[in-house]
Amino acid sequence: MSKTERGVALVTGASSGIGLATARALHRDGYRVFGTSRKKMAETDQGVTMLVCDVTDDASVQALVDEVVGRAGRIDLLVNNAGIGLLGGAEESSPAQAKALFDVNVFGVLRVTNGPAWSAKTSYAGLFRAMGDRPPATTPSTPGSRN
Ligand SMILES: NC(=O)c1ccc[n+]([C@@H]2O[C@H](COP(=O)([O-])OP(=O)(O)OC[C@H]3O[C@@H](n4cnc5c(N)ncnc54)[C@H](OP(=O)(O)O)[C@@H]3O)[C@@H](O)[C@H]2O)c1
Repeated sequence: MSKTERGVALVTGASSGIGLATARALHRDGYRVFGTSRKKMAETDQGVTMLVCDVTDDASVQALVDEVVGRAGRIDLLVNNAGIGLLGGAEESSPAQAKALFDVNVFGVLRVTNGPAWSAKTSYAGLFRAMGDRPPATTPSTPGSRN
């Protein structure tokens, strides 16, 4: 790590929204930043190195961690941002929709944070969870909304 580099950060779901803004801000703040998208994107975006990862896929998460550690040697800061939303109350949401939400927003976080992908070299010091959605059973009902 260079003297000017604050550390190596990994931001999941950095192709848009909060993840994109966070990845760029961390880069401006002196981190070497790796961001992810499920789609292959331009290699770098304003200093952020973009890699492919689907957090619902164990092998994809493993490949991501291997890639970052292979390139940077370590991961110091992990931002578990990748997530999806589900509008509407329990009566408006199917079990399949809820399972898909949990697979990304809950089990996706576990895969990236605690999975076998992590090695001794990836003992991150920081963990930030940006996602704040609750399961549909606890969200207020919004008539007519379904996604
Ligand atoms: N915006 C809000 O008001 C709000 C409120 C509460 C919670 N949140 C949470 O905050 C986080 C960011 O929200 P946002 O509004 O910035 O969302 P966004 O613009 O839709 O961005 C979501 C990011 O997650 C990635 N993603 C989605 N499914 C994924 C998967 N299976 N594997 C890997 N990456 C995946 C997307 O990447 P690709 O599509 O490129 O793969 C995208 O980069 C989410 O976790 C969201 O649930 C947002």
